[in-house]
Amino acid sequence: MVMETKDTMDAIISLCKRRGFIFQGSEIYGGLAGVYDFGPRGVELLNNIKRLWWKANVYDKENYFGLDSGMFKHPRTWEASGHVGGFSDPLAECRTCNTRVRVDKELAAIGINADEKMSEQKLNELFDENRDKLKCPKCGEKNFSQVRSFNLLVKSNLGDFTSEGNEPVYLPGEACQGIYLNYKNIVNSMSPKVPFGVAQIGKAFRNEISPRNFLFRTREFEQADTQYFIRPHENKDAFEVIKKERWNWYVTLGIQESKLRFKQHENLVFYAKDAWDIEYEFPSGFDEIEGVHDRSDYDLTQHQTFSGIDLSYIDQETGEKYIPWILETSMGLGRVFLAVLCDAYHEDEMDGETRVVLKLKPELAPVLCAVSPLLKNKPELVAKAREVYAALKKEFGRVMWDDNSNIGKRYRRQDEIGTPFCITVDFETLEGDTKDTVTVRMRDTGQQLRIKTNDLVDFINSYEIL
Ligand code: GAP
Repeated sequence: MVMETKDTMDAIISLCKRRGFIFQGSEIYGGLAGVYDFGPRGVELLNNIKRLWWKANVYDKENYFGLDSGMFKHPRTWEASGHVGGFSDPLAECRTCNTRVRVDKELAAIGINADEKMSEQKLNELFDENRDKLKCPKCGEKNFSQVRSFNLLVKSNLGDFTSEGNEPVYLPGEACQGIYLNYKNIVNSMSPKVPFGVAQIGKAFRNEISPRNFLFRTREFEQADTQYFIRPHENKDAFEVIKKERWNWYVTLGIQESKLRFKQHENLVFYAKDAWDIEYEFPSGFDEIEGVHDRSDYDLTQHQTFSGIDLSYIDQETGEKYIPWILETSMGLGRVFLAVLCDAYHEDEMDGETRVVLKLKPELAPVLCAVSPLLKNKPELVAKAREVYAALKKEFGRVMWDDNSNIGKRYRRQDEIGTPFCITVDFETLEGDTKDTVTVRMRDTGQQLRIKTNDLVDFINSYEIL
């Protein structure tokens, strides 16, 4: 069924709340813009995405190491990284109603080729040239201030850095800085040979002026990053390999390849030598879900300068000494979560009714299988179903006991959260030729199979459960 863009996104947002995937942050206090909470179903889907990412980027590789660095970092970190000086969004304020707007977004909305990575001067020029066409989205007046840069770092205070007049500590503007700060520790403790990689999943915070599109642009989000340390100038081929690996990973998640594309940055951010986005076609159009960046020796050189610590690598075999270059992949987990949901969301017809179904791969589904007695007032069915449930729960964890309402409604509810297998213990389970078999109802086709209870684990595992 073809749905209007806005309707599809609205339907997904409504499903997320109704079925416990995503809640607005601090909802009982009226909500906090740009912050979302992952509910019981959402955290399972999120963890499954993270698990598959960790597997692909740590376990399936020989020379990648995991890391989990602290969120707070010494204030020098963000000066060295360039974020204190150069991490900002171009902002203008409506002089009539004080609404702040992102200048690049307002220009893009009237068809001007502008983006957040353009220089302030260029954006100012474009803004001035097009001032008469730009209206405040709130009051409609054409009465904007000059463009100014709005730093995105979120300030905090901690220990020695709390008193008035002292410099602030910042929440991480990007998760990857923890990897650079620990590069020397990893070299000293793990003795890796260049090229090697470090993988980390961590939170990032940005004072986005206009958080928008649900999970797409939030003020608190999680990034899954890899930093690949390579010999200087050996970036080109390795960069292509990494781009291909990242593309293929999305395909293994089950995302339709036709909905993915690469886009090269025309305006490079301060740290990048080359940068590509992997974009997904959301209902509103293509937009970035991951950045793949060639950062050259920018980061380690900066941290070496600011810390005064030698961050060069010494090749034990040749004695060669150099600052490694870095190739980065940085994926926004909220955006990938949203892309996975958009891709899996379907409305189709089954048994003469329209149903909503999330066609998630079993590895991703929040609930792998639901187990039900056909009737909940028949103790013999309930006892047997409990036995099946306990065995599967022990094996897979992501297993749900579901004896609410009638079987048709159970199937619809499980379809909406993407449960691939609904297992029902019925009278045939208890006696006759079919004793010790159950009905397995397949989510995508509605097909019902009769499977021996002893074969259930193998049957489910045959769907590549990781
Ligand atoms: N360390 C590199 C870095 O942070 P980035 O392109 O700014 O690069 C990487 O961010 C990814 O983080 C993006 O591709 C996006 O998926 C995610 N991301 C960035 N800003 C975000 C925001 N405000 N809300 C949600 N996700 C965001």
